[in-house]
Amino acid sequence: MVTRTLFLCALFAVSSAAPLQDAAVEDGDASPAVPDRCAGLEFDAITPNEKGNTLFFKGNYVWTGFTGPAQLSTLYFRELNGPVDAAFRMHNPENAGDHDHIYLFKDDKVYSYFNQNLEEGYPKQIQEDFPAIPTHLDAAVECPKGECMTDSVLFFKGQDVHVYDIATKTMKTKTWSHLPACTSVFRWLEHYYCFHGQNFTRFHPVSGEVVGAYPKDARHYFMNCPNFGHGGDRKPLKCRDVKLDAVTTDDGGRTYFFAGPIYMRVDTHRDGFHAFPITRAWQEVNDGVDAVFSYDSKIYLIKGDQVYIYKADAHFTLIEGYPKTVKEELGIEGPVDAAFVCPNENTAHVIQGNRMRDVVLTATPRVVAREMPLPLSDIDAGLCGEQGIKIFKGSQFYHYDSPMILAMGRIAPVPEDITPAMMGCEE
Ligand SMILES: *[C@@H]1O[C@H](CO)[C@@H](O)[C@H](O)[C@H]1NC(C)=O
Repeated sequence: MVTRTLFLCALFAVSSAAPLQDAAVEDGDASPAVPDRCAGLEFDAITPNEKGNTLFFKGNYVWTGFTGPAQLSTLYFRELNGPVDAAFRMHNPENAGDHDHIYLFKDDKVYSYFNQNLEEGYPKQIQEDFPAIPTHLDAAVECPKGECMTDSVLFFKGQDVHVYDIATKTMKTKTWSHLPACTSVFRWLEHYYCFHGQNFTRFHPVSGEVVGAYPKDARHYFMNCPNFGHGGDRKPLKCRDVKLDAVTTDDGGRTYFFAGPIYMRVDTHRDGFHAFPITRAWQEVNDGVDAVFSYDSKIYLIKGDQVYIYKADAHFTLIEGYPKTVKEELGIEGPVDAAFVCPNENTAHVIQGNRMRDVVLTATPRVVAREMPLPLSDIDAGLCGEQGIKIFKGSQFYHYDSPMILAMGRIAPVPEDITPAMMGCEE
């Protein structure tokens, strides 16, 4: 599945920050000093940048994204002189002054960059910014509140982990001797990875616990290397070619787009947009979806005349007895084009052709309470949130303030284009 994940991942990948692409080191005339990340490197540091592209540092070089070429790190970080020890992206939404800044550590100094510009007053002594944090670090990583107790930074040196609270500027030291000595640490899609040699080990950011079969070889997951099984066509998706099957936001605030065999989470866009096989999250749904909606801490995936209902926790668990037929579950015949439930409501708005049927989810058995013609047809997906309803059709969407306005409107509003910011496609 690894292979497929990366391949699909790349399909949707946002082209890595291109402004300096011209200065890229070409494969052909690369001097012997240019490192090859497929040769089994040990990275000095890894961090996302302010756009969600991952930066991998080694010596005087940096790679942007999982597929970019090696570039001199001074192209992005002009004032940098030689290798870095550690890097992280600041997560401090309380303070716009340093939120999303890229912090680089070298010996006893810290550099703070934003949009490739060094902030005034940097480099500084590490302790001026981060009291009690040691010099000559091995690694650093952001740890937002919710994943750590408070908005924090984890600093690594040897087997010691210094947990730094950003707001109080205090730190606690733990020793995780069961972890390998991390030369870089990377937070990606809410998970934490300690890189050591060419390998990485995933750990829990509070307990340090390692669950699962580690170490794993980074070349299978975080880069595109020949003979590691994930070559193939990596054409980025154009926004005008987008065609969704479904979209939903679950009760945990996670928003998912579905298209063909893949899904993508868009609320984690700070880490870039990455697509994965639907079966990675919803194991039993192996033929794509027609419509998806969320209700009462559950997610309903509809395909043909079948409904799969999953309990939405950290993982999705298929509820016993499912799939069932659409008829049995919702009181209407499948297939379904789109479906959505608005926040704090108990009605599924089910779209079939140019009709919308309202199914009351608190009633047993389920019955259609209302049926209305719509001013649109060939609808792909629908999403209802605090900002109203988005009805997706091809590469465009229509905005409505409420289901009532959607059903009562005689003419459709002017459609808007799906943008790169919405789902990481290209203009
Ligand atoms: C990397 O991990 C593999 C297992 O995936 C292991 O066989 C190998 O010894 C590890 N190498 C290092 C340098 O840790």
